[in-house]
Amino acid sequence: MQTALKQNVQFTDYHPAPADFFAEVMVGLAQQPRAIPPKFFYDAPGSQLFDRICELDEYYPTRTEMQILRTHAEEIASLIGEKSFIIEPGSGSSTKVRLLLDDLKPHTYMPMDISKQHLLQAAQTLAAEYPWLDIHAACADFTTELVIPDSAVDTNRVAFFPGSSIGNFEPRAARHFLRHLGQTLGNGGGLLIGVDLKKPAGVLHAAYNDRQGITAAFNRNLMTRINHELAADFKLDLFDHYAFYNPQQGRVEMHLVSTQAQMVSIGEAAFHFERGESIHTECSYKYSIAEFQALAESAGFKAIKVWTDIEQLFSVHYFEYQR
Ligand code: AVI
Repeated sequence: MQTALKQNVQFTDYHPAPADFFAEVMVGLAQQPRAIPPKFFYDAPGSQLFDRICELDEYYPTRTEMQILRTHAEEIASLIGEKSFIIEPGSGSSTKVRLLLDDLKPHTYMPMDISKQHLLQAAQTLAAEYPWLDIHAACADFTTELVIPDSAVDTNRVAFFPGSSIGNFEPRAARHFLRHLGQTLGNGGGLLIGVDLKKPAGVLHAAYNDRQGITAAFNRNLMTRINHELAADFKLDLFDHYAFYNPQQGRVEMHLVSTQAQMVSIGEAAFHFERGESIHTECSYKYSIAEFQALAESAGFKAIKVWTDIEQLFSVHYFEYQR
């Protein structure tokens, strides 16, 4: 039985094509160096592990970004202006936008996610908490050509992209994604984006190698998912979680490293791993303020304002699209 949408919720299904998990894993394991895209971390257990990472003492980004948003919500709201239309790609549970809503009072909020159930659930909960807010939920992926509703023509359109999710894109892909976002928003559109800052390697090392081993479990869960969904036989205890800061590339890398020579089969296919051979599972780029401003500028955005915490761990930028 379908639950009726709350009065202030509208829903558009863009029917995002599901990723071909099998094909991407086969291609990723056949290439050298081996790599599997980080988007596959987020099945239900992976998303739960990620939520636990966000609560860890060592993982500073979530609480620091939330503190920045809370502290500067009023100023952010006055920069964005009244009657705004806020679009949030990959909105998940729409947690962070709540820190802004009371000050911002937007005309419309458009959460956008590929998981229809999660999106609808989050939209309904938000709608009950903020009955004055118009919510246009869009089931879509990052690349969808979105139709901005007619009611939003005269609004200040702003994309909200928190969490330093931009750090999980290669810089070229990040530029491409930002340009696409800018074109969706149109001239004068705003971008409020959270970006993790460069910092001493020790702090990053702790954040991606927590004492409780939650990040290691998150990384290894990828093998569990492949085992379940693609009939594979990864032995989890024969792969180490390995995460380190690569200063040349300015990124944290996560890998799964084979502790011995072994064979892994996936359906009919078999892959041989040497001892020490790795599967690269994630890049998390860290940017100085100037580096990120240069990246966003190359995608057509003009830097307007940036906020950080006193320890300079994390940044929240506001940009305007100008081309
Ligand atoms: C979602 N993303 C921004 C996280 C990050 O820090 O790159 C994912 C993550 N990987 C390990 N810990 C957290």
